[in-house]
Amino acid sequence: MVYLAAFAFALAALSTLPTSMAADVPAHRIMVVHEERELPDHFALAGTPSPDTPISLKIALTATDMAGLEKVVWDVSTPGNSLYGQHLSYDETRAYAVPSPETVSAVATWLNENGITNLTSSGAFDDWLGFTVPISIANSLLNANFEKFSEVGGPRELTRTLSYSIPVDLKQHIDLVYPTTDFVRLSKGPKLEVHETSDKLATRAVAASCQSAVIPQCLQNLYGIPTTPATNSLNTLFVSGFDDEWAQEEDLEEFLSIYRTDIRVPLKTTFQEKFVDGGENPQAPLIAGIEADLDTQYTVGIATNVSVTFISVGDNNTDGDLDGFLDLANYLLNKTTTPGVLTTSNLCNAYLKLTARGTSILFSSGDGGVSGSQNQSCTTFVPTFPSTCPYVTSVGSTNLTVAGNPTETAATFSAGGFSNYFPTPAYQKPDVPDYLTGLNDAYKELYNSSGRGYPDVSTLGVNFQIVVDSLLGIVPGLTLSVDGTSCSSPTFASIIALINDHLLEKEKPRLGFLNPLLYSFPKVFNDITTGSNPGCGTNGFPATKGWDPVTGLGTPNFTSLLQTALDNS
Ligand SMILES: *[C@@H]1O[C@H](CO)[C@@H](O)[C@H](O)[C@H]1NC(C)=O
Ligand SMILES: *[C@@H]1O[C@H](CO)[C@@H](O)[C@H](O)[C@H]1NC(C)=O
Ligand SMILES: *[C@@H]1O[C@H](CO)[C@@H](O)[C@H](O)[C@H]1NC(C)=O
Ligand SMILES: *[C@@H]1O[C@H](CO)[C@@H](O)[C@H](O)[C@H]1NC(C)=O
Ligand SMILES: *[C@@H]1O[C@H](CO)[C@@H](O)[C@H](O)[C@H]1NC(C)=O
Ligand SMILES: *[C@@H]1O[C@H](CO)[C@@H](O)[C@H](O)[C@H]1NC(C)=O
Ligand SMILES: *[C@@H]1O[C@H](CO)[C@@H](O)[C@H](O)[C@H]1NC(C)=O
Ligand SMILES: *[C@@H]1O[C@H](CO)[C@@H](O)[C@H](O)[C@H]1NC(C)=O
Repeated sequence: MVYLAAFAFALAALSTLPTSMAADVPAHRIMVVHEERELPDHFALAGTPSPDTPISLKIALTATDMAGLEKVVWDVSTPGNSLYGQHLSYDETRAYAVPSPETVSAVATWLNENGITNLTSSGAFDDWLGFTVPISIANSLLNANFEKFSEVGGPRELTRTLSYSIPVDLKQHIDLVYPTTDFVRLSKGPKLEVHETSDKLATRAVAASCQSAVIPQCLQNLYGIPTTPATNSLNTLFVSGFDDEWAQEEDLEEFLSIYRTDIRVPLKTTFQEKFVDGGENPQAPLIAGIEADLDTQYTVGIATNVSVTFISVGDNNTDGDLDGFLDLANYLLNKTTTPGVLTTSNLCNAYLKLTARGTSILFSSGDGGVSGSQNQSCTTFVPTFPSTCPYVTSVGSTNLTVAGNPTETAATFSAGGFSNYFPTPAYQKPDVPDYLTGLNDAYKELYNSSGRGYPDVSTLGVNFQIVVDSLLGIVPGLTLSVDGTSCSSPTFASIIALINDHLLEKEKPRLGFLNPLLYSFPKVFNDITTGSNPGCGTNGFPATKGWDPVTGLGTPNFTSLLQTALDNS
């Protein structure tokens, strides 16, 4: 976080205003409603906060040229475009994304008039202006009515307003004020379904069928993923864990010693650690995260010899209820070299900026079928976020049905559906409209047919074997079998990292934002046409020929995807 006082231009703008101005100058500003909404059905009013309760607000300042940046992202990500693959540098991205000095000073002046002088600037492009005031001041500043809202059947209590206003002359300078009307539920990586444990060596034998137990070899065989090591030192794959989750190096070592006996030093057999918001890496016994262990074992274990970095995001978040998601995006955006692949309203804009720099961003779609989360008591389908951000590649799950004759079908938990916020992006036409036509009005009242469809792709996600010896209560010598779309996102991310390696070796740019390419070549996927994703008391969406909101375009064929990437670069 950078304090605004550090900026010469901002200081110049602010220092001309006496701090007592609020009292002296009558407000001549004409206010207009900036955002308003109805109370979402999964939240209930839970009381009025006391007027002197402090609230930390952040104003997202408009970028110098967001439309320009968006156009660049489509140009550099769409195969056939003359700019394909020409990702931007940090400075080039910044030129589009940074707010202009006029924007910063116009907004700061308004806040100063209201006696708010302690402003902090944050974000990789200094695009957020933050301050803390009593609720009563926030209410009068924004013509708002901040209340407490609690999530029905959930743990979250949020302080929000259903409407707020800003001065009409600042419309062009302010994207939004956070937190105000935003009730989005972020999925931090759904909770994995953990079931039986098995003997590790027995698992390796059983795994021949890949049905009751999935190990790296299964994925390599099914999708044609090579075991040959990647060679390019510029190739990177970042995996992130939230809530201080960290991954156990010893668990990974043991996993590789059982399932990837061919990977040995000097190949990359471990991962690097980075920290955001006070994340941790104690490497102590007992408390490593299952999710973090899964992520590291199925990236280092599949993306052979690719440099993997685990980012532990702690709880000292500076992005309010965004739980570190925005902090993480800003952390990555602020680096001179962004990762090649990253698996984990305005947050989506931060992802847009990352894709401009050539990062592929993958998220698991969620584990509750059409209910999005595991809580199935819903009256309309619940799309997950950030998976529905159009600049993200959303990964769903499949399941093997017949032992010995592996046929993939949709995993029942694979979350999918349609966003209520982001419209169908160009790359999903005609796939999404075609699917809806085939659906023939089924569930018409339960989802938004003009929304971005998700997931985009899928891989196996059932019965993944992981080593978590350090976990309390698990006897050493056993593996855990886990299910979830969190198994699928590291698998797909590893495939992309291996493809990037081939591209970089040929001195071609890495893939970056994947979706325009993937939807242009649906034949590189094994189309999954059976199964569905039940939820909210329905059978969910059926998987069908072509794209569907359960398995997306299907599961990858490495050789075909690699060839397509090479042909188009
Ligand atoms: C200004 O705000 C920052 C962060 O919000 C806080 O740490 C600092 O103490 C404040 N300074 C003053 C003078 O209020
Ligand atoms: C960006 O990096 C600079 C230099 O390392 C650092 O001072 C600044 O705090 C970082 N900004 C963010 C938003 O992380
Ligand atoms: C699911 O939500 C319902 C109400 O919507 C609530 O009563 C129930 O406790 C929730 N279940 C879980 C497991 O959170
Ligand atoms: C990938 O696709 C090619 C071409 O259709 C096919 O020959 C090959 O068997 C497929 N590989 C796998 C692992 O399915
Ligand atoms: C592993 O990758 C590094 C670059 O990160 C490369 O120098 C090395 O040759 C690779 N190892 C093998 C066996 O290809
Ligand atoms: C998180 O913040 C708290 C309170 O500011 C501080 O005591 C703690 O040391 C921080 N944790 C880390 C890991 O930075
Ligand atoms: C996977 O397939 C098996 C065999 O058909 C079935 O018993 C199981 O419920 C399926 N699991 C999921 C999550 O789809
Ligand atoms: C449906 O999605 C569109 C964006 O595609 C959005 O503008 C609209 O508000 C959504 N409608 C509802 C009822 O959520």
